[in-house]
Amino acid sequence: MKRYLIAGNWKMNAQLSANADLLAGIVPHLSATGAVDVAVCVPAPYLAQVQKICQGTCMNWGAQDVSAHESGAFTGEVSADMLSDFKSRYVLVGHSERRQHHLETSSIVAAKAQRALAKGITPIVCVGETLQEREAGQTEEVVKRQMAAVIQQVAHCVSELVVAYEPVWAIGTGRTASPEQAQTVHALLRAQLRAASANADRIRILYGGSMNPSNAASLLAQADIDGGLIGGASLKSHDFLAIVAAAQAL
Ligand code: 13P
Repeated sequence: MKRYLIAGNWKMNAQLSANADLLAGIVPHLSATGAVDVAVCVPAPYLAQVQKICQGTCMNWGAQDVSAHESGAFTGEVSADMLSDFKSRYVLVGHSERRQHHLETSSIVAAKAQRALAKGITPIVCVGETLQEREAGQTEEVVKRQMAAVIQQVAHCVSELVVAYEPVWAIGTGRTASPEQAQTVHALLRAQLRAASANADRIRILYGGSMNPSNAASLLAQADIDGGLIGGASLKSHDFLAIVAAAQAL
């Protein structure tokens, strides 16, 4: 049986009072029953606040990025040790917004995943193709290349990863991959992970890209979709809870 992971990615949307209101609308309604883990990935300055609110509850928390370096003269960077200070369970690495706007290459993403694992933080490795790449028939090649870089770097701990397939054309656009389109790519990723690890079946492969209460159930019902990475809908407590409920009902 699957154990789903529903993770919110707040992106650069947070303020102390808004975070408190949002979490007050979600955390008390989460129950330990049901095969669903729930998490929020928040901007680093709010990790202390979110830790304080969520510790001892069913809500897990994490960050949206981590430095590829351990420590030292890297102004503005946040290290895995720093994330550990706030008991971060997860960290996103290789989100397309970082690949696109911060020129993160797959080898940087792989180094970040390794740093997180070394400190016991689960990296949520994001992969996905642009619309141009999909239309050029390059989806498989692109996601496999992005995945391969991480697999190569973390070799013996591949099964510790969480993977998120996030087609760039579906992020924040309201345009969702159909359940079949998503499943096709998830199955490719599963096969690639199986070739790299005997324990690949325990790796959760999340779908991200305009997941919302009305499409969550059909996406999450797919054989190789083990959860969701939720952007916009994670900022609305009702929508986020509805996605969690959809996973719980499956
Ligand atoms: P949206 O759910 O807003 O499309 O964002 C998806 C995403 O990028 C999550 O990381």
